[in-house]
Order: sequence, then structure tokens, then C-alpha cells
Amino acid sequence: MRIDVVTIFPEYLAPLDLSLIGKARRDGILDLHVHDLRTWTHDRHRTVDDTPLGGGAGMVMKPEPWAEAFAAVLSAGREAQGADAHPLIIFPNPAGAPFAQATAQDWSQREWLVLACGRYEGIDERVYEHLADQGHEVALVSLGDYVLNGGEVAVLAITEAVVRLIPGVVGNAASLVEESHSDGLLEYPLYTRPASWTDPAGTVREAPPILLSGDHGRIAAWRREQSRRRTRERRPDLLPADDEGPAPLG
Ligand code: ADE
Repeated sequence: MRIDVVTIFPEYLAPLDLSLIGKARRDGILDLHVHDLRTWTHDRHRTVDDTPLGGGAGMVMKPEPWAEAFAAVLSAGREAQGADAHPLIIFPNPAGAPFAQATAQDWSQREWLVLACGRYEGIDERVYEHLADQGHEVALVSLGDYVLNGGEVAVLAITEAVVRLIPGVVGNAASLVEESHSDGLLEYPLYTRPASWTDPAGTVREAPPILLSGDHGRIAAWRREQSRRRTRERRPDLLPADDEGPAPLG
């Protein structure tokens, strides 16, 4: 997969050299290019923003550097990926559609993503219109109902969520199947050795004995029930309307 990121803070993306994503780059699974939006400014101050038309607080990102950036990045990408390569252009934005595991799964199958980091109050609306008019697929996505200072942190999160789903990035593919959100539920509670642990306050805490039973069928059923119970408690919005409610204890 090729990913291009356009930002005014290229250093913000440095963590993408680390851990599994860094390894995916070194292994040639991820071809990541980070671009400084100011490359496509032409004034002494390398200006990317201006005051909002109509008045109001803050600053708005100017359309010209963005249009030039997309022209250059898309043309370089087409050169590398082939003339008929189609990028998905993604703008993290608190006013976007929710980014969820299903989105990550969908995007992990794409060959080319272009992630554009807005700053200040946002980007001039005509940039989106221009890209759509050019026939590009454009997606505005939000990480959640809160406001970040810019798209960079969202790009880190989106890139990690997407790239880890590409085959070969996470060593044990089975771990992707059982994790939270992969089947619409939260993951069941996890335990490791020692099975009996005395915490620093002196309380002895036992792992659920069923996990030591060796009965894989009963363990799977217990985990499914724990997932449902946890989802009901913490994220009832994720459950289907016909969920049966708590199973009897015991
Ligand atoms: N940029 C600023 N806030 C954001 C959010 N909540 N999600 C995605 N991008 C953002």
C-alpha cells in the first residue's frame, strides 16, 4: 500500500517509523511519503492560512497550496503506482463521518491512500469541491466527538488502524480476529500467569478457573458471554436491538 500524507508538521509523523508500522515500511509492505504543504507556497512567509471570509475567529487554510499539493502528490503517486491508480483522499475532520473498525478494514484493501492534515479552523471548502470535480474519491472522517488541533494525530491513528490489517503486518493474524470491534463486540477480559496473583495490597486475585480447564468449547462460550456482558455495560450502542440482556449468573 502507498500512503501519502500532506501536513505543515512533517515531524509529527515521525512515530510512523516505529514498531509494526515502521517494520511494514522496512519490509516494503507500506510505502509512506510525508510531504510538507509549505513546499507549495510561493511567498516569503510560506503562508498557508488566511482570515475567514465573512468574519469569525481563527484562520482558514488557503485553497491554492492544497490544490498544488494534490496535483504534485497525485502525479508522483500515479507515476509510481501506474496511470490508472486511484487514490482515496482522506481528510480527518471533526465534522466527518465516524472512523470505525469497518472503515479501517475497508481502507486496508486499498492500494493508495492520501491523507491531508487540516489545521486552524479547517480548509477552504472549495478544495473538497475541486477534488470531487476532478473525479477523486474524497472521505472526511472523524476519530470521535472531540476536537484536536489538527489532522496529524488522527492520521497517526488512522494509519495504524489501517496498516495493521494488511496481511503480514501483524505477525499473528488470529489476534486480529478476536480483538475488540472485529465482530462488533468489545473483547473479553484477558489473563496471563500467574493464575493466582497477590496484588500489592495483599489481596489474592484468581484468574477465572474456567481458563485453566483446558475445555476450549466452554472457554469460547465463556468469552462470548463476557464480550456481550462487557459490551452491554460499556457500549450498549454497539448491541443489536434484539440482544437478550444479561444471562443468569452461575
Ligand atoms: N481534526 C480535529 N479534530 C478531529 C477529530 N475529532 N477527528 C479527526 N480529525 C480531527
